[in-house]
Amino acid sequence: MRLSAALLGSVLVEAVDRNNFKKCADSSFCQRRRVFNSDGVSPYAVTKSELIENDSILQLTLEVDGRPCLKALHSILPVGARINIEECEPLHPRYDPEARPSPEELLIDGHAPQKLKLDESNGFISIQAGDMRLKTSLESYITEFSHKDEVISVANSRNLLFVEELREKNDDEPSWEEKFKSHKDSRPRGPESVSMDVVFTNSRNLYGLPEHTDSFVLANTEEGEPYRLFNLDVFQFEIDERMALYGGIPFVASHSPERSSAALWLNAAETWVDIKYVDPEASIASWFTSGKVPEAHTFWLSETGKIDLFLFPGPSIQEVNDQYTVLTGRPQLPPQWATAYHQCKWNYRDEPDVAEVNENFDVHDIPADVIWLDIEHTDGKRYFTWDPVKFPTPDKMIENVASKGRKMVTIVDPHIKVDNNYYIYSGAKEADIYVKKPGGAEFNGWCWPGNSAYIDFTDPRAREWWAEQFLFENYKHSSPSLYTWNDMNEPSVFNGPEVSMQRDIIHHNGWEHRAVHQMYGLGVQRATYEGQLKRDPNSRPFVLSRAFFVGTQQWGPIWTGDNGAEWSHLKSSIPMLLALGVSGMPFVGADVGGFFGNPEPELLWRWYQLGAFQPFFRAHAHLDSKRREPWVFEEPWTGRMRNAIRYRYRLLPLWNELFYESHKTGVPPMRPIWYNYPKETESYGVEEEYMLGDTLLVAPVMEEGKRDVEVYFPGGDKYFRLDYHETPAYSGNAVVSAGEDEQIPVFLKAGRIFASKERIRRSSTLMENDPITLNIALDSERKASGKLYFDDQITHDYQKGEFSYKEVSFDGKSLNYSDSAQTGVFQSEHSFVEQIVIYGFGSSAPKSIQISSNGSNWQLESQVKGTTLFIRKPNAKSTGSFTLTIE
Ligand code: NOJ
Repeated sequence: MRLSAALLGSVLVEAVDRNNFKKCADSSFCQRRRVFNSDGVSPYAVTKSELIENDSILQLTLEVDGRPCLKALHSILPVGARINIEECEPLHPRYDPEARPSPEELLIDGHAPQKLKLDESNGFISIQAGDMRLKTSLESYITEFSHKDEVISVANSRNLLFVEELREKNDDEPSWEEKFKSHKDSRPRGPESVSMDVVFTNSRNLYGLPEHTDSFVLANTEEGEPYRLFNLDVFQFEIDERMALYGGIPFVASHSPERSSAALWLNAAETWVDIKYVDPEASIASWFTSGKVPEAHTFWLSETGKIDLFLFPGPSIQEVNDQYTVLTGRPQLPPQWATAYHQCKWNYRDEPDVAEVNENFDVHDIPADVIWLDIEHTDGKRYFTWDPVKFPTPDKMIENVASKGRKMVTIVDPHIKVDNNYYIYSGAKEADIYVKKPGGAEFNGWCWPGNSAYIDFTDPRAREWWAEQFLFENYKHSSPSLYTWNDMNEPSVFNGPEVSMQRDIIHHNGWEHRAVHQMYGLGVQRATYEGQLKRDPNSRPFVLSRAFFVGTQQWGPIWTGDNGAEWSHLKSSIPMLLALGVSGMPFVGADVGGFFGNPEPELLWRWYQLGAFQPFFRAHAHLDSKRREPWVFEEPWTGRMRNAIRYRYRLLPLWNELFYESHKTGVPPMRPIWYNYPKETESYGVEEEYMLGDTLLVAPVMEEGKRDVEVYFPGGDKYFRLDYHETPAYSGNAVVSAGEDEQIPVFLKAGRIFASKERIRRSSTLMENDPITLNIALDSERKASGKLYFDDQITHDYQKGEFSYKEVSFDGKSLNYSDSAQTGVFQSEHSFVEQIVIYGFGSSAPKSIQISSNGSNWQLESQVKGTTLFIRKPNAKSTGSFTLTIE
């Protein structure tokens, strides 16, 4: 289908062919077991309980008339509570931790069960460790999760727990096999779905469940389709949809003025999630807790696997992200160049084309850090090879790009052309690491190269083999300046059901594809990441992936796939990226310009403006799209796009600090407003603006012809528009200009400090030793504070203490610039503070400004513009310490 669109030369943005993808009614287990609107089934009763594993796990036996018994394991972990459920005696193993791959493999830390205090009274059995408790009704197996005696969520609150027990084939059973279009799923184990409901008490707002294109606040699904999580290559996806897309994280965060909390349903099979918000009068869990409160109901249904539910207590959203990323892995600290601007196109034709693009950035005075090569750079879609005619001297090409401090990225997909003369194909065959058909033969499917085999990335041996292919001696013409893009890793199989792999295909340890589908793409990215580490252990890897799952945050960024060059897609990039951020996946972006179609220059310009303020900033376009590098449209458009890209470079020091924070604690750089204003209910549905850290408010223009934006400034706080010194600070609601010669409206929150670099060079690498400017916005008490992060931007030496973490605070008179308690020992010899800009200082210049650093004092000059004070040339080292006194 893709190919034919390409051959037709179609550049129109068309609609997705929905018939290619399942609705709940097309998926037999969803159709059978979507009981969300029912009143529940007969409740399971707890018939036996015992503490096991040194009193750290409570094992419960659950029984209900006419069904085999279930075994529930309850534990309290350092980061939350865990509930594991399967049959008492399953006919075949459901995920056994020993039988890898299993979702269990994704747990990094924080999963050690704590010693439990047991209490059994009045028909309930409770376990407690620290502040957390799981309290279960013996009569009905409803299980409350509480933190400091406050009930947060209730599992099986509506008695929707159900495990379709594994059983011998019964010829009368119609649901044993399944058909979708021309595809048959033999389903040898028969139906085996698992489901349960989780209610968040005192909550009206749920977020997360990426990747979908509807509103940021999860919608009530009672009337329509549930949210579907099943990684798929969806051609020409549309917005306002709950269809599955390229990646999925089965994670929901609940937020109310009182608390944030979350649930992770750790299951790597196809999963559907229903949502319903219930008013206090109709609340269900409240009989069990106290009082009538609003409730957010969720219902989780997976095709196979165990129930493995994690409940995170928060109570802040920052703590939720911390708890989740302790458990599933901290986000990678990217090399700094990866946080700068990336230029991609399917395809840069040949070496002269790459040289010209590289050159044009300089001609047009536009910074760029990375030039990307899509599938056409290979020799007949054989990854790890180069087209001998179009790319005869890749080493020279990469060297030329690298001479400007830039990198290159090549695409390496997981489908391998079936060709015995292709060393990757034959090598993987010999290593016996391809996924297999049920009978044991190599599985082949159709993808870019034609007939292809698929490496089994769920097999640690396969990952190891793949990683080896990135060694410089193996990947010919690669170099330390060449990094990787893993695409099509849902996996995409053009002739497979829903453009993916048959579910009865066999992976490592005999697991069917249906059980591990969601983990496939993660394995590809992880193996590539490990390959880059193998080839160059002290360089931070960079691997972009399209598919993702729980834990992807450790291996690199993802992007939102094949969006369209339409205003609506520009707009939807915000809720899509915010949902990823609150779900523990911070390094995310959308193709700038829209992948399909041809954006008008105005749309492209607005997209550059917004993309410059999103974590992963890459322009990309379809094979059939016209060229649209920033200089193509000429002036005034080139100038406008140039300004937008340069703005990103100016703020790279802020991105450094935000990514470091993310790496340490799991908080996303790009945040919904409520993340910083948890009690501000008006902000709960806002998805037209957002914040970077708790420092900048970003309010883009996303409509054609608009030259202003209505901006909502939260919390009664003052916000200063960056660079608008004559304009008073904003608060409340205001209409802000965003004309042709203006930058995207971006505001510095009063009370915050961040660093910028005002000299823009060809690439971020060349700006490494440049001086910084401190931007300070005074709050109503004339105070402000902030943190700054420095390291060598590229190696892992920061892990050995080679970083500097600064604390900067202003108390109305003195500015104190010093090491924070968490600092390391990094010293930059060259970089210094060249300017201090204080917003909201007032219109009269101070009498004197004195700086003290390293035992010397000297006076500084200043100038006032509007109400902003500019202090020139403090020239203190940016990794050193100083105090500045303003009289
Ligand atoms: C699909 C990806 O989403 C797109 O970005 C890429 O250009 C094409 N595959 C070709 O590799």
